[in-house]
Amino acid sequence: MTTASSFATTGPSAAALHTDEPSPIEIRAFDGPLGAEVLGLDLSQPLSAADFTRIHRAHLDHHVLVFRNQRITPDQQIAFSRRFGPLQIHVLHQFQLSGHPEVLVVSNVVENGKPIGLGDAGYFWHSDLSYKEKPSLGSLLHAQELPAEGGDTLFANMHLAWDTLPAHLRSAVEGRRAEHTYLAKYAELQQRSPWRPNLSAEQVAQVKPVVHPVVRTHPETGRKALFVSEHFTTRIVDLPEDESAALLAELFAHSVLEAHLYRHVWAEHDMVFWDNRSLMHLAAGTPDHLRRKMYRTTIEGDVPF
Ligand code: SIN
Repeated sequence: MTTASSFATTGPSAAALHTDEPSPIEIRAFDGPLGAEVLGLDLSQPLSAADFTRIHRAHLDHHVLVFRNQRITPDQQIAFSRRFGPLQIHVLHQFQLSGHPEVLVVSNVVENGKPIGLGDAGYFWHSDLSYKEKPSLGSLLHAQELPAEGGDTLFANMHLAWDTLPAHLRSAVEGRRAEHTYLAKYAELQQRSPWRPNLSAEQVAQVKPVVHPVVRTHPETGRKALFVSEHFTTRIVDLPEDESAALLAELFAHSVLEAHLYRHVWAEHDMVFWDNRSLMHLAAGTPDHLRRKMYRTTIEGDVPF
């Protein structure tokens, strides 16, 4: 596993991407299975067409982009996110940022006995909104308040997970489909934490189970990726329950092997933009006595194929 402090400074993947444009953007790939830092871009400013093209390309190439020290407002986060597609509104409207339904507050902070955000988002490995017909293309998480320790986010490269999958598992999953359900772990999470309100009938209706391919093709790069997660995938369709459970357990274990991982250690005002079609992620956890608050936007993607 790599962390952001170990990024490469030489070699083609680390070189600045030079174009005729005057923009000072530099993309520095991390020395590991995924991720890059973007230098020289102020996300509070509108993105030029040339800069959009470079960020879009870097996002496809590296799957996680880290923008340091971004002093931006929620409106500016929304504007930047919208350049990549329409935004999705999370079913837990209780944790929308006031006046900004596109922003989900991810936080362990409880004020006046009430959680101000979803504190256990990312407790299990997952790809955002894989339980929707059109799961998220990508997500953007902006650090508002960070704990003195803990609070890291881990990312797993699901292209690598597929590329390195042992032959017997490849043949077991090729052509198979799996069910994804928002409610899969809901009761378990409700028991553990104060962040999971009872859902209304309307909310439950918004998150009906869906079926997606176990191996998806990235719609922009054509690369294959494993697309099952411990949080939302409940079963592989057309397999007996015990066989399905055993196969999913093997896929989950393989997906999160150390060699596939990047750990993001947050710094003040970081903005991290990841590709849910290429990755799963996990919130590593924050000690209960420390405060963490993040703003998340999610961009709608395609129906997986
Ligand atoms: C998420 O799963 O979107 C939240 C990740 C985090 O808080 O680190």
